[in-house]
Amino acid sequence: MLDYEGIFTEAIEKVVNEGRYRVFTDIDYSALQSPRAISKRFNREITVWCSNDYLGMSQHPEVKQAAVDAVIAHGAGTGGTRNISGTNSLIIQLEDMMADLHGKQSGLVFTSGYVANQAVLSTLGKVMPEVVIYSDEMNHASMIEGIRHSNAERHVFRHSDMEHLEELLAQQPLERPKLIAFESVYSMLGDISPMHAICTLAKRYNAITYLDEVHSVGLYGVGGAGVAEMLGVASQIDVIQGTFAKAYGVIGGYIAASNKFVDAIRSHAPGFIFTTSLPPAVCAAAIASVAHLRSSDVERLRHQKMVKYVKDRLLNVGIELLENNTHIVPVIVGNPNIARQISEMMMSDFGVYVQHINFPTVPRGTERLRITPTPLHTVEMAEKLITALESALQQHGIYNGRKVA
Ligand SMILES: Cc1ncc(COP(=O)(O)O)c(C=O)c1O
Repeated sequence: MLDYEGIFTEAIEKVVNEGRYRVFTDIDYSALQSPRAISKRFNREITVWCSNDYLGMSQHPEVKQAAVDAVIAHGAGTGGTRNISGTNSLIIQLEDMMADLHGKQSGLVFTSGYVANQAVLSTLGKVMPEVVIYSDEMNHASMIEGIRHSNAERHVFRHSDMEHLEELLAQQPLERPKLIAFESVYSMLGDISPMHAICTLAKRYNAITYLDEVHSVGLYGVGGAGVAEMLGVASQIDVIQGTFAKAYGVIGGYIAASNKFVDAIRSHAPGFIFTTSLPPAVCAAAIASVAHLRSSDVERLRHQKMVKYVKDRLLNVGIELLENNTHIVPVIVGNPNIARQISEMMMSDFGVYVQHINFPTVPRGTERLRITPTPLHTVEMAEKLITALESALQQHGIYNGRKVA
């Protein structure tokens, strides 16, 4: 008899030895208290500074009410795949909304942003057998997985390096189909991709563009249409992919593109075809959230104000952060065990929850704390965050005290 338990133990020990064994932080939110929550493990109230519910929309009264109303009206589940039994009018409405938001002909909803990237990119290799895919080296795991499973010829270009991308594009005949896959806001760095330059290269080399706007929809651009809209390039992007799970505060993913592109994916992608569709409550909540953020700038403005406050205070006390023009505040630690210890100390001593981010989410040696302010945080909470960071970073030799003005 093979020692299967031993095989699993070895796999676990590998991550333990590398200092990247994941211990999930138990969190119970109380809807009216967010971003405060309760941690059972630490037996105390905590303030969460690392949620991707960037605008606190998961707690918004209109969003919660829409979900409750939809459950009462339609039930909890859809009972099947879109093809067999699951296409409800709320999904259609949501798809139309996303197409309209991004100025595209059609939308297609998936069960998550991960599934959208994985399903679409892996299917493209089958839809366009000759395609060459160009992928930014910092692309999210969902894109990497999709591209890998497409079996298409693929090339990885150095992060946002246009010379490298052009060098790779130029190696193929003009008439060969090509796709450039990239993100608008890179979630672990918080930097914005050079979209104008990518679109120019795409035109020059006959490529189509696939943009992951997961960390920007709802947050940037008119009505939250994303960074491509903000920079005036949305019409030059062929496929915009996004999520309802972050700024919109719910769950689910989507693409917006031409009628033909969407129809091809709808007809060929196993990750779309063979899974039960999103339940009505999720669709209704996403619709309410998208609709609210199309007409309200209040959350975005408060969000940007709190991001600026936190960044200014960090610089003020001399804590180094990776500078960027977005809402993501990364503080590099550079060691997986120390990053974990800092995170645990902030939690146990100060009730401040900032998750440490280790390999494989970020490259080894760049382990970090990733802080995400929201409009629900107060100045008082931010000051407590700064105190906790100063103390924990200082005790671990990452920071040596307040900068003298
Ligand atoms: C860039 C990027 N794309 C896609 C996803 C997946 O989105 P979702 O959480 O909706 O599955 C993530 C998740 O963090 C992401 O960071």
